[in-house]
Amino acid sequence: MGKLSGKKALVTGGAQGIGAQIALAFAREGADVAVLDLRAAEAGQTVTAIEAAGTKGLAVAGDVGDEAAVQQAVAEVLAAFGQIDILVNNAGIDTTSQVAVMPTALWDDMMRVNLRSVFLCTRAVLPGMIERKWGRIISISSQLAHKGAADMAHYAAAKAGVLGFTRSLAYEVARDGVAVNAICPGPVDTELFRNIPEDWRKRKLAELPIGRAGRVDEIAPAAVLLASDEGSFFIGASMNMNGGDYMI
Ligand SMILES: NC(=O)c1ccc[n+]([C@@H]2O[C@H](COP(=O)([O-])OP(=O)(O)OC[C@H]3O[C@@H](n4cnc5c(N)ncnc54)[C@H](O)[C@@H]3O)[C@@H](O)[C@H]2O)c1
Repeated sequence: MGKLSGKKALVTGGAQGIGAQIALAFAREGADVAVLDLRAAEAGQTVTAIEAAGTKGLAVAGDVGDEAAVQQAVAEVLAAFGQIDILVNNAGIDTTSQVAVMPTALWDDMMRVNLRSVFLCTRAVLPGMIERKWGRIISISSQLAHKGAADMAHYAAAKAGVLGFTRSLAYEVARDGVAVNAICPGPVDTELFRNIPEDWRKRKLAELPIGRAGRVDEIAPAAVLLASDEGSFFIGASMNMNGGDYMI
């Protein structure tokens, strides 16, 4: 018996990177896992890995910042799985700009993909969780929500918004058996991190006590813990695996 046997999970942005690793870790613990991502082909590769681990996988193409797309995607998952017990709000983007010259569109896109999406996906799955008196909402924020960073005010603001949302919703639904928590990784070696300008990345890695970026397999275990019954006393928490960059 895995820690998540019989559970049905939805992982956004699970085509690659942190989300793909979380999806696979959930499958290894016995969960059926749906992956919602813009990149349908890569999401299909995650599903192949999920099925190789012995559970059901489902790839759904869609934009997490688009209300209609989220509703349709959740309906597809519900049709295939019957219910959603665990949601991981992981899909995200990163861009850089100083505030003084930041285009409004860059700000708006960040809020849409990294914050609005968390609200839209959570709202779509919450009623079923409340009705069944069991659920897990896990949102991937960032250590920058706490620490901030030059050139990333929009990213840090969205990620801090995720924490405010997480804590507030945790109050609303904890007594309904729904645990709402966040994970705040430091730099992790994924496409998102590799696409940040090199001088920014070098500066960041130089100030990290551990002296290297994290690996996706160093983040996924926290999601498994929060998703499982073993994680039932985590309510409104943010788990900070960040190589020591911000120690709280
Ligand atoms: N890598 C890091 O250093 C790091 C650090 C802290 C937090 N995070 C957060 O972790 C999460 C995962 O990031 P990652 O590093 O694995 O990045 P990644 O770029 O490797 O993966 C992100 C995934 O999200 C998908 N995606 C992006 N926009 C989408 C949209 N509008 N709709 C649906 N899917 C969308 C992408 O297609 C991709 O598959 C993000 O929320 C990111 O902000 C990453």
